Amino acid sequence: MAQDDIFKKLIAHCKEYGYVFPSSEIYDGLSAVYDYGQYGVELKNNIKKYWWDSMVLLHDNIVGLDSAIFMHPDVWKASGHVDAFNDPLIDNKDSKKRYRADMLIEEHVNKLEDKIQKEIDKAHTRFGDAFNEEMFRKTNPRVMANQEKIDEINKRFSEAINTGNLNDVRQIIIDCEIVCPVSGSRNWTEVRQFNLMFATEMGSTAEGATKVYLRPETAQGIFVNFLNVQKTGRMKVPFGIAQIGKAFRNEIVARQFIFRMREFEQMEMQFFVKPGTEIGWFNHWKELRMKWHKALGFGEASYRFHDHDKLAHYANAATDIEFRFPFGFREVEGIHSRTDFDLRQHQELSGRKLQYFDSDSGESYIPFVVETSIGVDRMFLQVISASYDEEELKKDDGTTDTRVVLRLPAVIAPVKLAVLPLVKKDGLPEIAQKVVADLKFSFNCQYDDKDSIGRRYRRQDAIGTPYCITIDHQTMQDETVTIRYRDSMLQERVKISSLSGIIAEKVSIPALLRKL
Ligand code: GAP
Repeated sequence: MAQDDIFKKLIAHCKEYGYVFPSSEIYDGLSAVYDYGQYGVELKNNIKKYWWDSMVLLHDNIVGLDSAIFMHPDVWKASGHVDAFNDPLIDNKDSKKRYRADMLIEEHVNKLEDKIQKEIDKAHTRFGDAFNEEMFRKTNPRVMANQEKIDEINKRFSEAINTGNLNDVRQIIIDCEIVCPVSGSRNWTEVRQFNLMFATEMGSTAEGATKVYLRPETAQGIFVNFLNVQKTGRMKVPFGIAQIGKAFRNEIVARQFIFRMREFEQMEMQFFVKPGTEIGWFNHWKELRMKWHKALGFGEASYRFHDHDKLAHYANAATDIEFRFPFGFREVEGIHSRTDFDLRQHQELSGRKLQYFDSDSGESYIPFVVETSIGVDRMFLQVISASYDEEELKKDDGTTDTRVVLRLPAVIAPVKLAVLPLVKKDGLPEIAQKVVADLKFSFNCQYDDKDSIGRRYRRQDAIGTPYCITIDHQTMQDETVTIRYRDSMLQERVKISSLSGIIAEKVSIPALLRKL
């Protein structure tokens, strides 16, 4: 099936099974804003817990924070967001559709990268274990030609953006012969800058009201609280502050479901280090964050680093962790070595000293910062994309049937087990209810006695429940039940008393954390 079709099915599946709904749907929705349904919110909470515990629980030098969404407007002046948090926009004169100029170029580059990836995948299949990707990239003429085009476009684009030359940005779009996906024409307007921050007013009267912004990232809440946390927590550099919270960006083009939203959630950690040690820490976090992703078991080939060649003026190293979504490899997380830019800017504009006093050496300095920043929603999309599967099943009569199954890692699945009485009589529902009553303190359980057992299994497969417990007549005699495993559909007979232990071992966040 084409990747586009898979993605459409996945979006429909999320809505049909209570994962993600368009916001204000009865009013036809609000562009790029989504609500998480009954299963979505559980999955999201489990993702957040996995991240939070991996930061705050596993590191005795990382602590949490929950700062306000509204901040003093000067925060955004100091951080550079008022002046420079812009995206270049361009309109197509025929379709009247608006685009982000940089994304038109990025999509063009992605298409070239996808072509390279296809060549690599083909060669990998052909040569098997003997395949040497590095060598192939250096010698295959089609790959080399496409890579050359990519490098040239990226070079021109970074130069144009860094010098603020929007005419050049437009010229790249013309030279790459990029067409509007709606009108198919190349009739483009000039490129203009557009600030992404949402502004509102705080205060009761129009005269006295102050312009405030909805934060476009959670990181600044961490920077302005750096000394509060360091002093009250008696933290010693190196140390980190972790935060999960909403962020808002007035994205010009919001597409691809929850990949690019106007209201979204971030999980950010700022790690404060001694100047000069930041590259070592950057590499440390780069490796650790990749391990965190891979521990979920979606496979090595689903991830890659995209190291930034051209760095923002305040950064001295930056990389993205990219995941292979149905629409190609895209950024899920950024790891940035941001020098002392943010703290220094806040120190200058606020007039308050934001320095760390090292009692061992007697020196004071502004720490450097290594940041890890991941979108909860993008991570959610990663998990759903990697888990969605349509499996062909052979029936006894020789015909085939399709099973839609979310192969979610059990540890983050919203519902851990469903308890199903085989029939709705003979005392089986009562036993099933008792099993739920015992297990619900430890796991998110569901009880279901409607429809045939086969249909109930399918419902649980579709929401990704890893274990189905069936209560049958034998249960009345020997207190055993069957446990059916979602992925293999194998069934095993076990004692009711052993259920808790079996499931606990499989859904344990600590066991997952031990892999890190
Ligand atoms: N403090 C650094 C920062 O905000 P960023 O690369 O702009 O860096 C970090 O954002 C992460 O936040 C991204 O890797 C992505 O996962 C997520 N993110 C950014 N914009 C988003 C949007 N409009 N919708 C959903 N997630 C977004």
